[in-house]
Amino acid sequence: MAGRIPPEFISELLARVDLAQVIGQHIQLKKAGREHKACCPFHQEKTPSFTVTTKGFYHCFGCGANGSAIGFLMEYTRCSFVDAVEDLARQVGMTVPRDARAQARQESQEPLYECMQQANRYYQEMLRKSDPAKEYARSRGLSGQICKEYQIGYAPAGYENVEKRLAGKFDRALLIKAGLLTKNDKRRVYDRFRNRLMFPIRDTRGRTVGFGGRVLEDQDTPKYINSPETPLFHKGRVLYGLYELQQRRGNLDQLVVTEGYMDVVSLAEAGVSNVVATLGTATTEDHLRQMGRFCRKFVFCFDGDDAGRAAGWRALEHILPVLRDGDEVRFAHLPEKEDPDSYIRNHGREVWQEFLSQSVLLEDYFFSQLTRDLDLEKLTDRSKLVQKARPLLSSMADSAFRDLMMNQLGELTDLTRNQLRISSKTTERQLAAQQGPKPSVGRPTRIRKMIRMLLEHPELAVQAQSSLLQSLDALKKPGMELFAEMVDLAQGVADVNTGGMIEAIRASRGEEDAQHLTRLLDWRPAGLDGVSAKGRLQNFEAGLRILQKERLVAWRSRLTKQQLGDDQTPGKPLSERQKKELQKVNEQLKELG
Ligand code: GTP
Ligand code: MN
Repeated sequence: MAGRIPPEFISELLARVDLAQVIGQHIQLKKAGREHKACCPFHQEKTPSFTVTTKGFYHCFGCGANGSAIGFLMEYTRCSFVDAVEDLARQVGMTVPRDARAQARQESQEPLYECMQQANRYYQEMLRKSDPAKEYARSRGLSGQICKEYQIGYAPAGYENVEKRLAGKFDRALLIKAGLLTKNDKRRVYDRFRNRLMFPIRDTRGRTVGFGGRVLEDQDTPKYINSPETPLFHKGRVLYGLYELQQRRGNLDQLVVTEGYMDVVSLAEAGVSNVVATLGTATTEDHLRQMGRFCRKFVFCFDGDDAGRAAGWRALEHILPVLRDGDEVRFAHLPEKEDPDSYIRNHGREVWQEFLSQSVLLEDYFFSQLTRDLDLEKLTDRSKLVQKARPLLSSMADSAFRDLMMNQLGELTDLTRNQLRISSKTTERQLAAQQGPKPSVGRPTRIRKMIRMLLEHPELAVQAQSSLLQSLDALKKPGMELFAEMVDLAQGVADVNTGGMIEAIRASRGEEDAQHLTRLLDWRPAGLDGVSAKGRLQNFEAGLRILQKERLVAWRSRLTKQQLGDDQTPGKPLSERQKKELQKVNEQLKELG
């Protein structure tokens, strides 16, 4: 987590972002009056009930999905909150501020990034100076240009090169923390990467977070070493080549996932630039989340050996639970003894494309693998198939796709859906889709109504008579604090909209309040629809007047209670200050009428 982003920034950002444009980058929107409509990307439907409002907020009347531009990106592209904010900020040219604590944390990582960057530069320089290393790169088909683009380098032989080069500028402890130096049992500290071709691994902002290093001589072991887990580097989260791919931009209709560094750079060398690699780990949900930012069609490529086949199946197991309608996942297994690197070098780009076009859809891969050693004429084998398929299908989220997989299993085994007994992981959202949106907003109290009005029309907080908005939080009443905070936001941030308000509240007060606001949107109390702007303001002010009266009356009764006392406590005369307060309270009450 990269730190807390100030709520005001979030609502300011969402005021500048054009929601229809953001959503329109991912799904086809149709204009409907001032709003936009589409078939909901979050559930199956044939008639569009997904609406993008002009208030920075989308809403599906079918399944109840709703949210801001941030929520949409998180949900649709599976990115994190911070990534969504960063993405949007980039689109509108804003810079994400961090609060002091996060800033401090980030700054404390600054030296780590810096030493990784300097090591990266050093290795590149060493590649230029080392003939054997250059020769090795050449022997693997890498041009100077690709080496430059991927910042490929060389860690020279010897135990103290990096150490000597960087120790003057950075603490040894830091270099160890960054994974550049390592320590042996005898507490001797030395270079981790020695006599290796170096592949820097960069995050999506282009910062070097880790390295992979390959031996130059195939007989040396281990063939590859990676940076250890460090504060910057988490192997299961990064994809090699993603940054370089992002730099090339262009339209991606498909993302290819391979297993190795060399696969990515060799394919890039051949002009195939939609390729990333996992770093010797299984595909994780984090990987999918990152890739989802670029497209929804993935091909996973695996080597044509036993390890490759096992890795393919493992990937499928990881992918199933995060799969959603609209994803297209394919698997491709290279011929025996080939990997993408050797394949493209031996056969060229066209044959590679041909190979990809023959990749197998996830569903076909699924059943072909499961039925591989089975004879479906035999009842025992059919039951084995069900046994094997059941846990996998249960791991999937409820979706049209999952239904189709179950039908397929039913056909293969001659069993009905009921007989298959596959438990369903019905999500809350799916339940909502079946039941229609639920209007449960709690009791329609005045304060709820005020919150509801302000949520849709934040401008009311600016237009309303300012004395009516004073000291609202002094009224101790459920919802009052939330309301007061919304008023502050609406007054403090120009053009704040509904989506921005909800996200800011989520950031400052948490999920529960944000959910509450979201639910309130389904509720359309009287005095909101079909009322002119002027009428609305009048209603809002009338509500404020009542709240202010409640506040003043409560204050007055506190004072008089003190004066008169009760059964337990004797009365106590008011101080001069309190007398003035009482007088003021009475005047204000009179003014309010
Ligand atoms: P080349 O032999 O250079 O073509 O590499 P490759 O990419 O074909 O390697 P391979 O298919 O053997 O392995 C795929 C990926 O697994 C590599 O890119 C590494 O990320 C990782 N890997 C391979 N061997 C090792 C190893 O010995 N140690 C570690 N930590 N990772 C390895
Ligand atoms: Mn290889």
